[in-house]
Amino acid sequence: MESKKKRILSGMRPTGKLHIGHYVGALENWINLQQEYENYHLIADYHVLTTNLNSDSIYQDSIDMLIDWLASGLDPVISPMFRQSQIKEHTELHLIFSMLVTVNRLERNPTVKDQVRDLNIENVIYGHLGYPVLQAADILLYKGDLVPVGEDQVPHIEITREIARKFNNQYGVVFPEPEPKLTAFARLSGLDGDAKMSKSLGNTILLSDDEETIKTKLKKAKTDPQKMRKNDPGRPEVCLVFSYHKKFTPNEIPEIEAGCRSGALGCVDCKMKCSANISSFISPILEKRKYYESHQDEVKNILADGEARAKKVAQATMQEVREKMKLG
Ligand code: TRP
Repeated sequence: MESKKKRILSGMRPTGKLHIGHYVGALENWINLQQEYENYHLIADYHVLTTNLNSDSIYQDSIDMLIDWLASGLDPVISPMFRQSQIKEHTELHLIFSMLVTVNRLERNPTVKDQVRDLNIENVIYGHLGYPVLQAADILLYKGDLVPVGEDQVPHIEITREIARKFNNQYGVVFPEPEPKLTAFARLSGLDGDAKMSKSLGNTILLSDDEETIKTKLKKAKTDPQKMRKNDPGRPEVCLVFSYHKKFTPNEIPEIEAGCRSGALGCVDCKMKCSANISSFISPILEKRKYYESHQDEVKNILADGEARAKKVAQATMQEVREKMKLG
């Protein structure tokens, strides 16, 4: 007999159009896991309120992100895609979970501490503290066994596990204790070479960028500051463009490395090669993106269908939760 597939709950905050860092750090992994697991893809449009208060339209940002998901190859027929805000059970379970975790525990969460520091947030709102509690509700509502995340999100999965355990002990077993499934590839650095690629830092290459745009962006990318003239020897290990080559030119790494070190390969040529490879990598995504952009009704239908499917699962879990808790 075929054993039941394990379930994955994956999620992203809708910050608008996605960049190649999202692809390499998350989407690629999600796509690879599509067949082996049963997947639910969450658009965290409440979580985005903690960091992105001045978006013109969270709805449009969600649609833009969904288009990038679809263009990248996520299949909405096998995996429902849905917004957190449209399934009221997320808020309900979040409230119940908030009774199962101490303020002290949430204050020790390093991910929120980092975020607050990085974004220079002066006044921490309750939403920051409660962020992992809502995330626990996202995951456990669908009884996710695995959550594909980067290293920075592991503390949130730990809090999810603790909440699941506490609920199960107190009221009877409803939830699995989900495990993080770490993304293999480290995040891509941004074009400024200083930090990871991130919209708020303006150092991104978007999945929706065309060839010319990518070329212009790469021309400005930082390389080894010691390689000032074309024929100077360079150090690939400190070069941002080389780190992109590792991902986008995997078959020519020894040649590029040797050329850079000996000085035979100049930065301009190296960048042009890199930009051409990133463009050809993106080009099928760009094509599919164009299709979905001109078929927005189809995109909206995909979302409505995903939300209807997700809602059924969420409602069934909440029914169980209410019964176990004797809420009547
Ligand atoms: N916190 C995640 C991030 O910033 C987004 C997210 C919200 C999420 N809910 C989730 C991720 C549930 C996985 C599962 O990337």
